[in-house]
Amino acid sequence: MREQIKEAARYIQEKGANEAEVGLVLGSGLGEIVERFENAIHIPYEEIPHFPVSTVVGHASELVYGELNGRKVLAMAGRFHYYEGYKMEQVIFPIRVMKAMGIEKLMITNAAGGINWDFQPGDLMVICDQLNMTGTNPLLGPNDNELGPRFIDMSEPFAKDYIALAKEKAAALNIDLKEGVYMGVTGPTYETPAEIRMFRTLGADAVGMSTVSEVIAARHLGMKVMGLSCITNLGSGMQENIDHSAVVNTVDQVKEHFQNLVANIIEEM
Ligand code: 6GU
Repeated sequence: MREQIKEAARYIQEKGANEAEVGLVLGSGLGEIVERFENAIHIPYEEIPHFPVSTVVGHASELVYGELNGRKVLAMAGRFHYYEGYKMEQVIFPIRVMKAMGIEKLMITNAAGGINWDFQPGDLMVICDQLNMTGTNPLLGPNDNELGPRFIDMSEPFAKDYIALAKEKAAALNIDLKEGVYMGVTGPTYETPAEIRMFRTLGADAVGMSTVSEVIAARHLGMKVMGLSCITNLGSGMQENIDHSAVVNTVDQVKEHFQNLVANIIEEM
C-alpha cells in the first residue's frame, strides 16, 4: 500500500505537479473551476499507477494541477464513490497520494441534499462537523503507522480557522453562506422521507454520498481540512421529488458563486 501511494505520487510529480500546497476535491458538477487554473497540467486517472479506474461515462476523471488566485493547487476533478463499488481503500487513495506529495491542506467539496428547513437549493454550506453513517470506516484493518496513528482524534474534523475564513470570504462576496453538519451515507438511493426526518433528529443539516471517508483519511494523515457543500436540492419529503438532473441544474446555477468562494478561500488557506 505504502509503495503504491509513493509510486502514484512520484508519477504525478514527474508530470510537473510538484509544488502543490492545497488539495481540492471537486464534487458532482463542480469540476469546472479547473478552467480558471493558470498553467494547468491535466493528468487522467487512468495514467496514474495504482489509481482506481473510473467507469462512469461523462464524469470527469483527472487530476488538474495549476495556480488559482496565486496558490498552487492539485484538484481532483471527479472522485471515487463507495456506491460505485470501490473499496474504501480506493476511495481514500488519492487523499493519501496528495499527502505523500507534501500537501497538508485540503478542501473537500460536494453536492448535498438540504435537511435543515432554513436551507434552499443553491445554498452553499461550510461544513462544521460530520456524521459518518456509511456503516463502515476507511481505516478498518491493520494500521500503517507511517501514515498515521491507530486511533485518531476527531474533535476538530474541519479546522475552525478555515470555517472562519470561509465566512469572512463569503461575506466579502455577499454570499449568504450557511453552516452545518454533513451526514455521509453510501447511497445510491436517495433517502425516504422517514430517513430524512431521522437524519434531522440525529443532527444532520445536509446529506450526501461522499466526503466523510475522505475527511477521516485526511485527519489520519494529519491534514488540515475544510469542507464546502453545494445544497442542490432538499431531502425527500421536503420538496416534490429528487432526480440527478435537478442536482446538476442547481450546481450549474450557482457555479459562479461557488468558484469565486473556493478561489478566495484557497488564496488564504
Ligand atoms: Cl437528498 N441525498 C443524498 N444521499 N445525496 C444527495 C442528495 C440527497 N442530494 C444530493 N446528493
